[in-house]
Amino acid sequence: MSKLVTLTIDGKQVSVPAGTLVVDAAKQIGVDIPVFCYHPKMEPAGMCRMCLVEVGRPMIDRATGQPVLDDDGQPQIRFGPKLETSCTTPVSEGMVVRTQTEKAQTGRKDILEFLLTSHPLDCPICDKGGECALQDLTLEFGAAESRFIYDEKFHNQKHVPLGDLIYLDRERCIQCGRCIRFQSEVAGDAVIQFYHRGRATEVVTISEPGFDSVFSGNTTDICPVGALTTADFRFGARPWEMKAAASICSQCAVGCNITFNTRREVKSGGKVVIKRVMPRQNEEVNELWVCDKGRFAAYHYAESSERLTQPLLRRGADLEAVSWKEALDHVSVKMGAVGQNVVVLASGRLANEDLFNLQHLADNLGGQALLYTQMGGGEWTRRYGLSAGSNLGALGAGDVILVAASDLYNEAPLWYLRVKAAAERGAALIVLNARATKLDKYATQKIRYAYGEEMAAVQNLRQGELAEVIAKAENMVAFYGADGLGLDGSEALAAACAALLKETGHVGKANNGLVAVWPRANDQGAWEIGFQPVTDWGVLKDKVVYIVGADPAGDDPSLAEALQAANALVVQELFLTETAKLADAVLPAQAYTERAGTYTSGERRVQRFYPAVKPAGEARADYAITAQLAAQLGIELEGRGAHLVMKALAEAVPTFNGLTYTRLAEVHEQYPLVDSYYTGTAYKNGQGLGLHLALAADDTPLAVPSAAAMPAADGLLAVPFTRLYDRGTTVWAAELLHGRIGDPFVVLHPAEAGRLGLNGKAVLQIGSQTADVNVVRDETIAEGVVLVPRSMGIPVFAPSSVSLAPQSER
Ligand code: SF4
Ligand code: SF4
Ligand code: FES
Repeated sequence: MSKLVTLTIDGKQVSVPAGTLVVDAAKQIGVDIPVFCYHPKMEPAGMCRMCLVEVGRPMIDRATGQPVLDDDGQPQIRFGPKLETSCTTPVSEGMVVRTQTEKAQTGRKDILEFLLTSHPLDCPICDKGGECALQDLTLEFGAAESRFIYDEKFHNQKHVPLGDLIYLDRERCIQCGRCIRFQSEVAGDAVIQFYHRGRATEVVTISEPGFDSVFSGNTTDICPVGALTTADFRFGARPWEMKAAASICSQCAVGCNITFNTRREVKSGGKVVIKRVMPRQNEEVNELWVCDKGRFAAYHYAESSERLTQPLLRRGADLEAVSWKEALDHVSVKMGAVGQNVVVLASGRLANEDLFNLQHLADNLGGQALLYTQMGGGEWTRRYGLSAGSNLGALGAGDVILVAASDLYNEAPLWYLRVKAAAERGAALIVLNARATKLDKYATQKIRYAYGEEMAAVQNLRQGELAEVIAKAENMVAFYGADGLGLDGSEALAAACAALLKETGHVGKANNGLVAVWPRANDQGAWEIGFQPVTDWGVLKDKVVYIVGADPAGDDPSLAEALQAANALVVQELFLTETAKLADAVLPAQAYTERAGTYTSGERRVQRFYPAVKPAGEARADYAITAQLAAQLGIELEGRGAHLVMKALAEAVPTFNGLTYTRLAEVHEQYPLVDSYYTGTAYKNGQGLGLHLALAADDTPLAVPSAAAMPAADGLLAVPFTRLYDRGTTVWAAELLHGRIGDPFVVLHPAEAGRLGLNGKAVLQIGSQTADVNVVRDETIAEGVVLVPRSMGIPVFAPSSVSLAPQSER
């Protein structure tokens, strides 16, 4: 721990680590020094001068090097002739800081007057009005009148798109530089910068497309004024009209803590609707940030007019709306008639409570509970994953982070930020991938392999220069993904990473272990509860199949046949998906925005989400529907409330033992303290920081899978990869993102494209299926390989042999 320094601020003594800035030391003892440009997550810039204070330091006798004492034997303090910026001044021993003197107050007043000389005073119509640092600090510290003439104000453009997601009002910008520093320091995407000088200084984007970063929305939270707004929310509502509901982003396995701001409004038919997504502080998960997928896609699908609002039963060729009673009677009779011939197929989109009830129902009927997933390895993360006390924010020098077969920037953006930051603190970062990813830039060592050689590449880490670094590392966390892999290949990779961690003593303790970069928010929870992946679709034949939160027929039309071979198909969903269209019964489920529940993140942290809006139509919570069905089958399942299901789950599943909704809602003080001008408009966390699961203690040996066989190398090898923005149901509903999602495409080496005569558009043939695709050239991709994005309507889920031909030859 660094040396402590003692100083006095407004008469209060405080001891803080050497190097602490005066502004932060003051905050810790409840002295609020106003700031605009300073942000505790970034290096100080001293741009705005709002944080001026008087600073005195002990006088030192040059001859003795000792403090000069006054008549009372106290060190004499000499105050500088000028005010100092407390955000750029580190504390020093014996320092005396005064924040409330007339001189300091006048300084702040003058700075505000300067800032307002050219500020448009849009407050009555400004999006930030009500949560604006300039407005708040002017009311608190500013002068009642300005000496400047309003008509002579400098005017500038007010609706400047910096990209398709963020707008800039140039007149409102106070040139604090927070947005620019966030992008370069925190996000590592330096895609905006200042242009021109003096009062003409303006923020511009220097990327093509504009503001090309998946973290861009965060700049609107930390902008101290209403200069930056999102295309989603601008002019949408005023801050004081909205209520706040705590939630967890459901778009990836990170589990960012968020707040939904809601409002009842006429234009939505008098309904309460979600107006925006804001980050909610959890320093061990997402700190004060969210990615743009979370911000812009987390709720639009839930508010879609296409939502199912009533149960449906098949009458001939049609699905007809029926009452819940009729639907449940019908489904329970079907299930009751076949006994153990029931298969539950669910996905990690569901909450822990839903999955637990589904698993229980299947167990009680003697049927099977299967997980719909294209990524494996959950058996390994249950045993060797992260556990209590783990925090990626604690990793740094002396620690090792391995990222294998994953593009964190696209798959789990907040993990990308946290891993990048750990590497910048000195952690050795090993990036192992067949292709280049954004994380390469921060890697201590980047290792390339040919597709199919992932396992060997991990095993090779035991030899060579890195073996010693890993063996000596105090902590090691290994992330593995499914970049270029399917279910089997990713499981094999998980096993290889787990073996490396085990052999080097990096399991079973905080800040050590295996993290799966799952595609869904709660895949980890599904594995913990006991779901096993579906591998053989023939298992559905002649069974009553109950599919919840999954759309296999939509993802892969060739699966429709296997679904139709079922005795009966019951689908519980938000939408009439391709799978639901094949069903005998469709049960409308509530979205996670409409109910309570928990997700288990890839870091094995269980976190609560809360209802934000009323359910769509007659939709019910998944766990409740399952419990109602079970009741009709004479099986007792808890369905009265999510907290009660958690109680049953915590009793039944050992890794969940001891978890309750009350414990999951516990919070403790987090630093930096959240405050609208100090940290921006991120929400303080009063609803729960979540808790880690215990590690599974099973000692039955796990079968070590062999690397999945690669298809014959005579044709083109298609491998799947994940992009942040895709055509999945939960993303596509956010129209704002369509420009980023684009049309289906494949990526291949320019030489390969030339050899195949591809120019622009092509037809990809996978077995008997075809897809029209755009061709993107990338010379970092190995020849003979074609990258196929997941969830873009192209049915490649594992390495496959394909052919590609110009579209005209079709
Ligand atoms: Fe600061 Fe906002 Fe201007 Fe960026 S746009 S420099 S955050 S005032
Ligand atoms: Fe959501 Fe993942 Fe983005 Fe966090 S990183 S906001 S959990 S999509
Ligand atoms: Fe200190 Fe801007 S100069 S907050």
